[in-house]
Amino acid sequence: MTAPPVPHDPSAPPPGDPVHAFSEAERAAVYRVIGARRDLRRFVPDAVVAEPVLARLLAAAHAGPSVGLMQPWRFVRVTDPGLRRGIHALVDAERHATAEALDDRAAEFLRLKVEGVLTCAELFVVALREGREAHVFGRRTMPHMDLASVSCALENLWLAARAEGLGMGWVSLFDPAALAALLGMPDGAEPVAVLCLGPVPVFPDRPGLELDGWTSARPLAEFVSENRW
Ligand SMILES: Cc1cc2nc3c(=O)[nH]c(=O)nc-3n(C[C@H](O)[C@H](O)[C@H](O)COP(=O)(O)O)c2cc1C
Repeated sequence: MTAPPVPHDPSAPPPGDPVHAFSEAERAAVYRVIGARRDLRRFVPDAVVAEPVLARLLAAAHAGPSVGLMQPWRFVRVTDPGLRRGIHALVDAERHATAEALDDRAAEFLRLKVEGVLTCAELFVVALREGREAHVFGRRTMPHMDLASVSCALENLWLAARAEGLGMGWVSLFDPAALAALLGMPDGAEPVAVLCLGPVPVFPDRPGLELDGWTSARPLAEFVSENRW
């Protein structure tokens, strides 16, 4: 399937400063990767990601913006199969707890594929580092700006992975305290993502939750206004 690009007319003149704008082909590639990125949970079994590719992806994540340049992230690569199974057990427990909380949609939810922890080539746990309260700049009224910063790093990783032909799934179904304990995280550190990464059989052209009939994305026009809410 070919993913639809984010609307972009490559023949239009660059809207910004032509001195600083990227070339037409480069701009097209940026919009293409944004449009073609997907959250993926189905992976090619027994595949690997070459170390130099992994290094590029982590560098892309680490190049992300962060409030006050605090770089509040930590990436834990999980290579121990027993630990991977332990993480899968936590995710599965939360999957069932989520189904219970969903009540009348429980059975429908349990049919969704919401993680690829056991089959992805590489597994990472991404966490907020400890000691974040020392960072006041940009966080005084909004401490959750540290989570926003980690999210920027993860989006960088997601886009770079897509450009490298690799799928990524952000799994947030877990008890953070239990995952922190499993990985021996210090007090104050907080896991925010279990990342499944690796070669995938297909990049669907629409979100999996749409294809599975769970929900559908709404158009941009519903999210933009001028001057007033
Ligand atoms: C913070 C965050 C957490 C997510 N957690 C999960 C998850 O636990 N399981 C899952 O299947 N998808 C998860 N997703 C993926 C979303 O469902 C997905 O991004 C959305 O449906 C849009 O699809 P797309 O990313 O393919 O465009 C998460 C995405 C984000 C940004």
